[in-house]
Amino acid sequence: MSKRKRIIAGNWKMNKTPSEASKFIKSLKPLVKSSRNEVVCAVPFTAIQTAITAARGSRIKIAAQNMHFEEKGAYTGEISGEMLRDMGVKYVIIGHSERRQYFGETDETVNKKVHAAFGYGLKPIICVGESLAQRDAGLTAELVRYQVKAALVGITAQQVSKAVIAYEPIWAIGTGRTATSAQAEEVCGIIRDTVKELYGRQYASAVRIQYGGSVKADNAAELFGMEDIDGGLVGGASLKLQDFATIATC
Ligand code: 13P
Repeated sequence: MSKRKRIIAGNWKMNKTPSEASKFIKSLKPLVKSSRNEVVCAVPFTAIQTAITAARGSRIKIAAQNMHFEEKGAYTGEISGEMLRDMGVKYVIIGHSERRQYFGETDETVNKKVHAAFGYGLKPIICVGESLAQRDAGLTAELVRYQVKAALVGITAQQVSKAVIAYEPIWAIGTGRTATSAQAEEVCGIIRDTVKELYGRQYASAVRIQYGGSVKADNAAELFGMEDIDGGLVGGASLKLQDFATIATC
């Protein structure tokens, strides 16, 4: 058993209104009360405040799904790290493949956002992962190493030990096609090796690495039981109360 505390995060994506979020979190509270894992819900910006209020007195932490890297200013439609911290947000997802694919996120903006997150005391959940074409071309290891290194440029060892890195193969997201536990473990091991290369063994063994991509109630335990997998980033199944409770407590 690893000494790292498991972290199970639900990524709600663009789902649930503030009132739905409040109801969901209140119902989730008793179901995860005895979980040994860190339980996180990454809710839409509009639901953060009600989600935080609903989660009071529980072990559930609220995360944002994105943030801007600038401190403040003329960036219409954007949300800063300070705004999130002020509301009581603890984690922020950075560089999700949907943001890279649809909203122009690059390795460079991901790195800037990781710096900004730490600057505001937020812990980043940094997403990396290959497309099916990249996997088929044998590029997975090289690409994931590059994404990890690029995200961590200028980040200190102390900071990296507080970061979470999520391995999310794009071909497994929302497809129902989960990576096998061996495939997921292989890449999560590569991620830990990359952190070790950059910062040394001590910090590499502290960083938590999640698997994401069609995690479900019936495959979570096997995935999270792998040596280098310290929990999951869960999309679709995190919107269903019983399913997410099962995943969050396994
Ligand atoms: P699914 O669990 O719906 O495949 O989504 C995974 C994901 O993108 C989590 O960030």
